[in-house]
Amino acid sequence: LPVLPRDALGRPLHDLRLSVIEACNFRCGYCMPADRVPDDHGFDAAARLSFDEIETLVRGFARVGVRKLRITGGEPLLRRDLPALVARLAAVPGIEDLALTTNGSLLARHARALRQAGLRRLTVSLDALDPALFRALSGGRGEVADVLAGIAAAEDAGFASIKLNCVVQRGVNDEEALALAGHFRGSGHVLRFIEYMDVGTCNGWEPGGVVPSAELRARIHARWPLRRLPPRYPGEVAERHAYADGGGELGFVSSVTAPFCGDCHRARVSADGTLYTCLFAVGGIPLRARLAQGEAVLAGHLAELWSRRVDRYSEQRGSARTQGRRVEMFLVGG
Ligand code: GTP
Ligand code: 5AD
Ligand code: SF4
Ligand code: SF4
Repeated sequence: LPVLPRDALGRPLHDLRLSVIEACNFRCGYCMPADRVPDDHGFDAAARLSFDEIETLVRGFARVGVRKLRITGGEPLLRRDLPALVARLAAVPGIEDLALTTNGSLLARHARALRQAGLRRLTVSLDALDPALFRALSGGRGEVADVLAGIAAAEDAGFASIKLNCVVQRGVNDEEALALAGHFRGSGHVLRFIEYMDVGTCNGWEPGGVVPSAELRARIHARWPLRRLPPRYPGEVAERHAYADGGGELGFVSSVTAPFCGDCHRARVSADGTLYTCLFAVGGIPLRARLAQGEAVLAGHLAELWSRRVDRYSEQRGSARTQGRRVEMFLVGG
C-alpha cells in the first residue's frame, strides 16, 4: 500500500471537494455577480471531465487517503444525469462519506433520485427567508419558495439533518439571521452562518462586509442562549453550538476572524480537472493528462503534489504572500 502523503505542514489529505459543473442558475453577488459573469460567460461543457474520468479521479484520490467527498459546482444539479454519477462515486472503495452542496432551486425535482443513488448528506445554501431579499441575493434568479420546497422534498426522500449555509453580509442580510435561526430551530436541520470571504476577485469583497461570527453569535445568544459543542472531527470547519433549551444545533464558519488552516485536509478539483490545494489558490494544476494514465499513476502524482503543499491563505490574509488573481468560487465550489 502507498504511504499516505502529508503536506509540507504535516497535514494529511482527507477530503476532496469536487466540482462537476462551473455554471449556475443563480448569480449571488459574493460568488458570480451577473455583471462580471454574464449568461454568455463562455461556460464550456466540452471541457468538463466525463463521468468515467471523474470516477478514475476519485479512485485516485481515495488511494492517497481521501475518505470524504463533497460534490459541488457551480450548481451541481445542473449537471446532466448527476444521480448516475453519484451512484458510481458512492461505490468507490474508501469513500466513506459522500455529500453534496446545492442552492436547492432544483432539489425538489432531484432529491429522491439522489437519495436512491446513495447520497446521504445534503447542504443547501440559504441566505434569506424574505422572498424579495432572497431574489435580490440570487441576482434576480431564485425563489426562496423553491428552495424551501426542495428542502421539504429532501426530507420526504429520507435526508435527515440537512445543513443550511447562510453567507452573512453586513447591511445586506445580517438582519435575517434571527429569522433563519427561528425557522430552523427544532427542525433537526443544522443552520450555519458563514463569514463573507474574499474568495476570487470578481465579488469586490471588502472587510466591512464581514460580520464577525462572535458578533452574530452574541445576537443569537441574547434571544436563544447557546452553548458550545466540541468538534465532531479534528479540523472541523464550522464551530458547533447547541441551543440551551434543546432546540438543536447551529454552526459558525469563521474563516476571516478565526482561520482554520492548521488542520486543513481539503483538496479541490474544478469541473475541468484542475487541482487547487487551497480555496484561495492563485493557480491550479491540471490533472487530466495523468488521469488518462489511470488511477494508480494519478495517485502517485497526487501524493507528490500534496507533499509539496504549503497553503494557509486565511492565516496570511493581507500579507504580501497572498497577492495574485485567486481562483473564483464558482470554479471550486467553496
Ligand atoms: P461538513 O462536511 O458537513 O463538515 O461540511 P463543511 O462545513 O466542511 O462544508 P461546507 O461545504 O458546508 O462548508 C461551509 C462553508 O465553509 C462554505 O462556505 C465553504 O466555502 C467554507 N469552507 C469549507 N472548507 C473551507 C476551507 O478549507 N477554507 C475556507 N476558508 N473555507 C472553507
Ligand atoms: N464567502 C463565503 N461563502 C461563500 N460561498 C460562496 N461564495 C462565498 C463567499 N465569498 C458559499 C455558498 C455556499 C458554499 C458552497 O460557499 O453560499 O454555501
Ligand atoms: Fe451559484 Fe452557489 Fe455561486 Fe450562488 S454561491 S452563484 S448558488 S454557485
Ligand atoms: Fe485550507 Fe486554504 Fe481554507 Fe486555509 S484558506 S483552510 S489552507 S482552503
